[in-house]
Parts: sequence; structure tokens; C-alpha cells
Amino acid sequence: FNLLVINGPNLNMLGKREPDKYGFQTLSEIMNELTSAADSLDVKLTHFQSNSEQVLIERIHDAWQAVDYIIINPAAFTHTSVALRDALLSVDIPFFEVHLSNVHAREAFRHHSYFSDVAQGVICGLGAMGYHAALNAAVNRLQNAI
Ligand code: DQA
Repeated sequence: FNLLVINGPNLNMLGKREPDKYGFQTLSEIMNELTSAADSLDVKLTHFQSNSEQVLIERIHDAWQAVDYIIINPAAFTHTSVALRDALLSVDIPFFEVHLSNVHAREAFRHHSYFSDVAQGVICGLGAMGYHAALNAAVNRLQNAI
């Protein structure tokens, strides 16, 4: 299986950025651990981060017919981007939405997501473990074809 992990704006700052909310691990550390976990499950995991909405949309378009499942942390675009939502719908690839922090325990503007109602599942508040939960669930769904 081919899995694509997409991380949105400011997630390249993990490790430095508000560690009380997002932890001390860098994005590279998190993605390296996730890639090792994917390797041991025999799935090909590609990850991609951008701060640009356009670039994220184009990466999703490129995934058409090439990727079986997407794990996406849209970061701040979660709460703003109809265009990124539409990009995911346009390629018709199932996806899980992941957030490191519990967005529901934070500011009201973080309570709404443009992705959750079209995601296969949503994980928040588990920190980096959320990506691993999403990876395991995606592989499980692909293997059982549900
Ligand atoms: C986030 C939560 C968003 O509200 C925020 O804008 C982020 C990160 C998270 O992973 O907890 O950048 O998606």
C-alpha cells in the first residue's frame, strides 16, 4: 500500500513551536519514527509538509490514483480551507485527519474543521502517537478493504 502523510503550515516548527501544546519532538523525528513503523508493516509511506495552501493542494492532486490512503494534519488550514477540503474530495482518496493537540479544548475557532465530516476518522490530543494510530488504522482498513 501507498500512504501519504501531509502536514500543513507551521508544523515544520515542531520542537520549537509552543512545546507545551505540541511537544518537543521535531517533525523529522516524528516522521522518521512513523516511516520505520510503516516499513515494519510493509507499507510505503511518503510524507510532505508545506506552509503553502497551493503547494499542499497540488501535492494532493498528484496523489490521484497513486496513493491508497492519506493521513493529513491540515494545521491552521483545518479551520479555514475549503480549497484543501475540495482537493481531498477531488482525488477521492480516503483520509484520516490528525491533530497533535486536542483542538476541542482550545480556542473556539479551532473547534470547527472543514475536514472532519468528510474524513474516515479524526484523531486529536494524542500528540505524535496520533499519527501512529492513524497509520495502524489505515493499514487495517486497506487490508480488510473496508
Ligand atoms: C494543529 C491544531 C491547529 O488548530 C493548529 O492551527 C495547528 C496544529 C494540531 O496538530 O494540534 O497548527 O493541527
